[in-house]
Amino acid sequence: MRDERLCEIRIVLIGVGNIGRRFLEVLDRKADLLGARYGLAFTVVGAGDSRGAALDPGGLDIPTLVRIKMDGRSVAEYPGRGRQGMAPLALVQQVEADALCEASPVNLKDGEPGLSCIRAAIGKGMHVVTPNKGPLVLAYPELIALARERGVQLLFCGAVAGGLPAINMGQRDMAGATIDRLEALPNLTTSFILDKMSQGLSYAGALAEAQAQGCAETDPSLDVEGWDAANKLVILANSVLDMPATLDDVSVEGITGVTAADLERAKAEDRVIKLVASAVRQEDGTYSLTVAPTPLPAAHPLARLSGQQMGIVYHTDIYGTISAAILEEEPIPSAATMLRDLLSIYRS
Ligand SMILES: NC(=O)c1ccc[n+]([C@@H]2O[C@H](COP(=O)([O-])OP(=O)(O)OC[C@H]3O[C@@H](n4cnc5c(N)ncnc54)[C@H](OP(=O)(O)O)[C@@H]3O)[C@@H](O)[C@H]2O)c1
Repeated sequence: MRDERLCEIRIVLIGVGNIGRRFLEVLDRKADLLGARYGLAFTVVGAGDSRGAALDPGGLDIPTLVRIKMDGRSVAEYPGRGRQGMAPLALVQQVEADALCEASPVNLKDGEPGLSCIRAAIGKGMHVVTPNKGPLVLAYPELIALARERGVQLLFCGAVAGGLPAINMGQRDMAGATIDRLEALPNLTTSFILDKMSQGLSYAGALAEAQAQGCAETDPSLDVEGWDAANKLVILANSVLDMPATLDDVSVEGITGVTAADLERAKAEDRVIKLVASAVRQEDGTYSLTVAPTPLPAAHPLARLSGQQMGIVYHTDIYGTISAAILEEEPIPSAATMLRDLLSIYRS
C-alpha cells in the first residue's frame, strides 16, 4: 500500500548485476528511512538486463526482482510483467519514469547500451544517475549539455572510486578554490596487486589472488595497464577540473613493469609504490594528466592506504590539502552511490 503522504519517485533500472541488484537491496532496506527522513518513496517501474525487461507502472516488487537475479535468471521472468528480449533502450523509451538508474557494463568502444539509454532518458526529461564510466568518458560534454538543455540532472558519483564521494567533494566542497593538484588511487585491482607484491608475492601470484577474490577481471588488462584509472581521471578532469579532457590527454603507464626490485628499492627509501592518477595545474589553467606507478613517501596520505582502499587528495589554494579514503570490501558502497545521487536530486 502506498503512503499518500510520501512523494513518489518512479525509477527505471538498467543492469541488475553486482551493482544494480545491490542497489535494489539498499532501496528496499532503506525504504522506511527514506520515507521518514526525506518524505520520499522510490517505485521501480521498470528493470532491464541482458535478456529482457520487466515493467509495471504500479511498481515491481523489489524482493521478487532480487530473488530472480540471485537465482541467475532474467528480470524478463518476473511473473506477469516480464518481456523476453526487450532491449534496454526500448524499455527507457516505453516506460513512464522520473529517473533512470543506469548500471550496465562499461563499454569503452561505443558506450552501449548505457549511452543510448542515457541520451533517451535525458531527451524524455528524466534525471539520470549512473556509476557507468563508458558514456561519461566517451560523451561527457554532450551529455552534460543535453541535461542542461532539458533541465535535468546527470549524476555519477559512483563512477570514479566506488563509494568514495570524490566527485561530490571536488564539485561541491572545493567551491571557490583553485585545485593546484589532484592525486587519486581510483583502482582497487592495482592497489591490491602492488600491496601483495610488496608482501613478497610475484606479479602473477598477486594477480591470481586478486582474481580469486573477485577484485580483478578475468581479463585484467584494463586495470593493470592503467586504463581504468585513466578513464576515472578523464571523468574527474571533466566534472571537477572543468577541463574537457579525453583519454588522448592522459599519459598512461600501468603496473605490469613494476618489479620486486622496484618495490624493494622504494621500501629502502621509505616509499611505497602505488598506481597514482594525478592532475597537475599548468600555467595556462589546464592540467597535465598522468597515470603511473609512483613511489610515494610513506607519510603521504595515499601511501598509507591498504590494498583494499581507494583514495583522493585535493591540493588547493584556499582549503589546504584535503584527503579522503574508502575501505570497500564488497560493492555495496558502489551500489549505494545511485541512492546518494537520487537523494542529491530529490531531497529538499
Ligand atoms: N562492481 C563494482 O564494484 C563497480 C563499482 C563502481 C562502478 N561499477 C560500474 O557499475 C556498472 C555495473 O557493474 P556490475 O559490476 O554490476 O556489472 P555486472 O555484474 O556485469 O552486471 C551488469 C548488468 O547489466 C546487464 N547487461 C549486460 N549487458 C546488457 C545489455 N546489452 N543490455 C541490458 N543489460 C545488460 C547484465 O545482465 P544479466 O544479469 O542478464 O547478465 C547485468 O544485469 C558498470 O558500468 C561498472 O563499471 C561497478
